[in-house]
Amino acid sequence: MRTSTLGVGILGAGPVTQAIHLPTLARLRDVFHVAKIMDVDPAIAESVAGRVGTAWTTSMDDLLADKAVQVIVICSPHQFHAEQVIAACRAGKQAVLCEKPFAMSQAEAEEIAAVSRETRVPIIVGAMHTFDPGWLAAKEHWGDLVRTAHTIRYSIVLPPNPRFEDFATEVITRPERARQDRHDPEVAAGMVRAGIMGLAIHDLPLVRAFCPDFTDLEVLSCHVPDPFGYLVNLRIGDRSVQVSGISTESWQPEWTFEALSDVASLRIDFTPSYVQAGSATAAITRGGEATVYGPYPHNGYEGEWRYLADLASGKAAPLDVTELIHDLTFALDVADKASAAVRASAASEAAASQATAPQKEAIA
Ligand SMILES: NC(=O)c1ccc[n+]([C@@H]2O[C@H](COP(=O)([O-])OP(=O)(O)OC[C@H]3O[C@@H](n4cnc5c(N)ncnc54)[C@H](O)[C@@H]3O)[C@@H](O)[C@H]2O)c1
Repeated sequence: MRTSTLGVGILGAGPVTQAIHLPTLARLRDVFHVAKIMDVDPAIAESVAGRVGTAWTTSMDDLLADKAVQVIVICSPHQFHAEQVIAACRAGKQAVLCEKPFAMSQAEAEEIAAVSRETRVPIIVGAMHTFDPGWLAAKEHWGDLVRTAHTIRYSIVLPPNPRFEDFATEVITRPERARQDRHDPEVAAGMVRAGIMGLAIHDLPLVRAFCPDFTDLEVLSCHVPDPFGYLVNLRIGDRSVQVSGISTESWQPEWTFEALSDVASLRIDFTPSYVQAGSATAAITRGGEATVYGPYPHNGYEGEWRYLADLASGKAAPLDVTELIHDLTFALDVADKASAAVRASAASEAAASQATAPQKEAIA
């Protein structure tokens, strides 16, 4: 029975494997089965594999050598993605899904593209909104809005990930994250970079659909809200782009993407990460009349896995890896410029407060 479905090998069995990919794969049993799970922590590998009754290992080479594994999903921390994508391609697997970001530098991205072209192993990146049927419907129906939109903004307001992970499953061991002092310029710059490369990166490919040429990208301002997030104002050509992400327990979760022109607008409401309750809805308004697309039965997580199956079986054409490189270059450009802006403003705030400190003491 199992041999008729594609064997999935999982590298990294942390919260995203447990709370996103295993529940998605459980709904796609007619297409996939989990063939092997690898994690550097043997307790996690064994325990997660036990939940789905499959084999486990702590060795990537062992998993990649396993003939029962045909497709790979990479869910390890960011810094391992590039080397693992390359190893999966070199092992001759049928297709690779790498969680975002698929690389942390332009050089890594280009190496991945070269290996993917050489080995002909198709790669997709887990930017799930690009596979969401709500987004795909918007693309099909937005007409000239993609050229005429002058303002693009997307806003992510989410409680910290563990809230959703715990709704989805009982997560096995979770690393403690220390609270950071965002008044330190280096810490603030690092937080913005982590926010852009970890969270904003989900929808930067959507922004790039409207701004394919981002050579003159300029960060006008960047602010770090408490307790974690980023508020970035950008200009790309004559377009204004606002990108914000806030992690807070106290607000209603919201994930929206908007594109506005003088005569039309698009608004997409995505479900929060981890939530598997159908697709986003997209509303396109022209002349005061809105047409709403969705929600459709499945979301972007299932969309990416369905596409991976079609790639592995040769039914779908592979994505152009050059586009994946451009998406990464765009994200790195936003992250570099936003973190430089926040570093500069935090340093000037620190200098200003030092300059006023002696005066305050003198008055006291
Ligand atoms: N698509 C989404 O909605 C979404 C949401 C959150 C996170 N993510 C991405 O998923 C990835 C994993 O996130 P997470 O929250 O599960 O991360 P995590 O860091 O909490 O867990 C990663 C797991 O990988 C293991 N690991 C460490 N080094 C490894 C290695 N070299 N090889 C294999 N495994 C290794 C760790 O032991 C841990 O179990 C990240 O890249 C993150 O950006 C995606």
